[in-house]
Amino acid sequence: MRTDEGPRPRGVLVVDDDPPAARYLEVALTEAGFEVRAVAGGLEALLAIERSPPALVITDLQMPGMSGLELLTLVRQRWPEMAVIVVSAASEVATIVEAIRLGAVNYLVKPVPPARIHAAAAQAMAGLRRQNAPAQDVSIAEIIGQTPAMVQVRHAIALAARSDANVVVTGETGTGKELVARAIRRLWFAGAPRPFVAHNCALTPADLFDSEFFGHRRGSFTGADRDRSGLLREADGGILFLDELECLSPHNQAKMLRVLDDGEVRPVGSEQVHSVSVRFIAATNRDPRAMLAARELREDLYFRLRGFQIELPPLAKRREDIPLIATHYLAPSRKRLTPEALVALTAHPWPGNVRELRSVVEVAAATSTVDLIDEGDLGLTSTGRRSTPAAPAPPERALSLQKSERQTILAALAAHGGNRVRAAEALGIHRSTLRRKLREIGMDDDKPD
Ligand SMILES: Nc1ncnc2c1ncn2[C@@H]1O[C@H](COP(=O)(O)OP(=O)(O)OP(=O)(O)O)[C@@H](O)[C@H]1O
Ligand SMILES: [Mg+2]
Repeated sequence: MRTDEGPRPRGVLVVDDDPPAARYLEVALTEAGFEVRAVAGGLEALLAIERSPPALVITDLQMPGMSGLELLTLVRQRWPEMAVIVVSAASEVATIVEAIRLGAVNYLVKPVPPARIHAAAAQAMAGLRRQNAPAQDVSIAEIIGQTPAMVQVRHAIALAARSDANVVVTGETGTGKELVARAIRRLWFAGAPRPFVAHNCALTPADLFDSEFFGHRRGSFTGADRDRSGLLREADGGILFLDELECLSPHNQAKMLRVLDDGEVRPVGSEQVHSVSVRFIAATNRDPRAMLAARELREDLYFRLRGFQIELPPLAKRREDIPLIATHYLAPSRKRLTPEALVALTAHPWPGNVRELRSVVEVAAATSTVDLIDEGDLGLTSTGRRSTPAAPAPPERALSLQKSERQTILAALAAHGGNRVRAAEALGIHRSTLRRKLREIGMDDDKPD
């Protein structure tokens, strides 16, 4: 869950397979007042993040099993709001550029003096606060696009904000679904602060649903060491943003439907019933009609959620907007694009949509040493693919079977927050098979599933 306070402000996760190196960073950061946990590998890091997300991950580069760059890629994909710093003994420029391109906020070369570690961590945290701040307050004008579809989107936001009806926002990844939810919030609240609670349904294991949404009484189950009010009561009087709605199991969809009907919440282990008034904005990158047809989404829930439906077109279907968006995200750097660079951006397929475009432009602005950014500075190849893909998708070059299998496994683990049972299900293999394969690629941490 993410309320507007964002992740724990001073939580740092250190990832290093070398115990003395991990301990060194842990001590240096703890002394500077950070809350630090350390783990010895990428897979353990994914599990630790899933359990309790830190604000910052500091990872070594060369590790057996999952490399630091692979971990960086997976974290950026799954938890884009988290900052990652890469630490390594290697100081080659190519690796630094690669880490920055993949989204690292900083790169430190070992041995790192404690003062340098403190400064880098503090700077990363300050950057996070800046990055989180505007997200709370998106004006409709910040949703850029002059194509008819985007003008229509802004119109729909204004209409939705004038009512109290629930909203379903659809669109591929990176098309701006959360941006739309936040713009509705800003107009709807009209100055009066009301809660906005964002929750990603992919991150709640199905069996923790009750406690997460309805809250629990202290002692109602093992691990419930204090009372918890739950998402629905936290969002009372405001908005509950349900991201990745497609990940809500049918069983839990039925429970959600009941809340939509009667507005009643009973925490786990409690007799007391609370009435809540919550406006729901649900987002999904799947087509709701396909989910209805496949019986993955309950029709009754969908119709209760869909007071308004706002559909965000993929960027490739509104290419005229690309120069506007690129220029917008380039503006803070005061750099400019050559006409060739603009043409290349406009022709690119953009599977990651606006998020990917934004990242390409911002990385080019940060890494180019001149004020005029040319096509070659963008990291786009002539085939239309980025030379360093943001996701571990199989590159065109011939990969050994083993390597592509390993990438598929890593991607599945990342997509399910490191949860091996769900990753195995997604891969269509038994979890003991996944376990064996993880062992083969040196990534089994010997924990039970
Ligand atoms: N129309 C737009 N104008 C300007 N920036 C945009 C626009 N659409 C998206 N962005 C930017 O792209 C990034 C991704 O947007 P957002 O997080 O809202 O996407 P999303 O649809 O929720 O993606 P996902 O399905 O992966 O969660 C953000 O940095 C956002 O500011
Ligand atoms: Mg989103």
